[in-house]
Amino acid sequence: MIATEPSHTLRSMNLRVPLTRRYLMCPPRYFAVDYAINPWMDPSQPVDVGRAMAQWTELRDTYRRLGHTVEEIEPQPGLPDMVFAANSGTVIDGRVLGARFRAKERVPEADHYRRWFLEHGYRDVVMPSRINEAEGDFAWTGRMILAGTGFRTDPEAHAEAQEILGVPVLSLRLVDPRYYHLDTALFVLSEATESRPAHIAYYPEAFSAGSRRVLARLFPDAVLADAADAECFGLNGVSDGRNVVLPVEATGLADRLAGQGYEPVFADISELRKAGGGPKCCTLEIRK
Ligand code: ARG
Repeated sequence: MIATEPSHTLRSMNLRVPLTRRYLMCPPRYFAVDYAINPWMDPSQPVDVGRAMAQWTELRDTYRRLGHTVEEIEPQPGLPDMVFAANSGTVIDGRVLGARFRAKERVPEADHYRRWFLEHGYRDVVMPSRINEAEGDFAWTGRMILAGTGFRTDPEAHAEAQEILGVPVLSLRLVDPRYYHLDTALFVLSEATESRPAHIAYYPEAFSAGSRRVLARLFPDAVLADAADAECFGLNGVSDGRNVVLPVEATGLADRLAGQGYEPVFADISELRKAGGGPKCCTLEIRK
C-alpha cells in the first residue's frame, strides 16, 4: 500500500478544521431603517429594535459557544447601520485598514471604529483615502484579499489596500445591486494552508462575466450558490473552517456545505436583513 500524505487524507475525508477567531461586533441598540442605501432597505417598513438586539445577541453567543472571542464596540445614537461592523475595518497580521463610507449617513461610523482600534492597543491603524467599505467588500483567503467593486468600494481602494496591508488584492466586479457588497455574494469557507488551497462559496450571477471566469480559474472546487441561496443572504456566512454560521433560511446551501464536511449553524437575522445585512455584515474579524 502506498503511504498517503496527510493532506490527501484530509482532502479525501473532507475533514474540516475549525480555527479560533477573534471578532468585533456592535450591538444594534440604535438600529433603524431611516434611509435607503441598498435595495433591501425600505424606511416605510417598521423595524423592531428589541428583536434586532435579541437576534444579534444570539449571533454573538453562537460565536462564543463555538469557542471564538467576541469584542464589543459601543453603538452610537444616530448611526443605525453601525451594527454592520464588517464595513469598518480590515485587519490582517494586526495591521488595521479603516473604512471610508460611500453614503454620507454612514461616514461618521469609521472614526468610532478607528478609535476603538487605537484604544485597544493597535498601533498600525491607517485610514483609506478612497471609498473603502472594508470587509463588506474584502474577503481574506489566507493568501490574498478578494475585493469587490461596482457599488461601494472604489477600485482604487483595492490598490491602496494592497499597498497598506502588504497582501495581494484581486479585484472582482459586482453587477447586481441586491448584492452590492462582496460579502453578500461570496465568502471563504476555509482559508488556504500549506497543504490546501482556500475553499470558497459564491453566487456567480452577482459577478461580471470576466470576474466569473477569474473565480472559476482560481477556485475550481468552489461551492456555487444559486439564486435562492443568495436571496436569503446565504452568502453572508461566517466560517471558522468547519462551523459555518448561516441565516436560517439558507437550508439548500447548508445541505450542500454539510455534504462537503462543514457544520452549518443557523442564525435568525430577519430583522437585520431589513437593512440589507446578515451574519457576516455584523462581524469584523480581527486577524492578529
Ligand atoms: N445598510 C447597510 C448598508 O447598506 C448594510 C451593510 C451591510 N454590511 C455588509 N457587510 N454587507 O451599507
